[in-house]
Amino acid sequence: MKFFIDTANLDEIREAHDLGVLDGVTTNPSLMAKEGISGEANIKAHYKAICNIVEDKVSAEVIATDYEGMVREGKELAKLDDKIVVKIPMIRDGVKAIHYFHSEGIRTNCTLIFSSGQALLAAKAGASYVSPFIGRLDDIAIDGLELIGQIVHIYQNYGYETEVLAASVRHTMHLIKCAELGADVVTCPLKVITGLLKHPLTDSGLAQFLADHAKAASK
Ligand code: E4P
Repeated sequence: MKFFIDTANLDEIREAHDLGVLDGVTTNPSLMAKEGISGEANIKAHYKAICNIVEDKVSAEVIATDYEGMVREGKELAKLDDKIVVKIPMIRDGVKAIHYFHSEGIRTNCTLIFSSGQALLAAKAGASYVSPFIGRLDDIAIDGLELIGQIVHIYQNYGYETEVLAASVRHTMHLIKCAELGADVVTCPLKVITGLLKHPLTDSGLAQFLADHAKAASK
């Protein structure tokens, strides 16, 4: 399973990369705004800076919601770097744009997926990734993980090449369950990745090893 980090913060991207476990990055307009990035030139420069850190794909979301606008913006974004995946919302014109980009050999990530029907439509249109939002479904008392299982099952039934990129991942159990369910990629905040490090028995076991070593060394 690939690990993507869901942020536009360069320090966090570098930290996850330095840990040696990071594949790619996903961003969205809210995450870019959180870093204070605005204006076409700044946005493009920021995406380039992200691409310079990671080895795998970087999702960059279009702002337009009409077909022509999404195609225009997506082409501009795709030109920035081979790692760029054009992120397109699951709306009617978005599906058309995904189909267009597929025919042009440009990768897409269909975002804001909340049902298996939407995921099926995105795969039919030729999306490279679909992003089902687990946490936001959980927030309204719908089991987000169940959706991951359904999409993985449907894609396996028909051999779709679209990758399931589990998004809106809020904690380590979300990530672990996604791995069990066969999601291809998980995108999450840095704290979810580093949360995997933690186990109290690891900490107490290491403390014991070091104490025993020190005791033996002092004899
Ligand atoms: C995915 O691509 C989205 O950027 C993201 O995972 C949304 O997560 P949130 O629901 O925690 O905002």
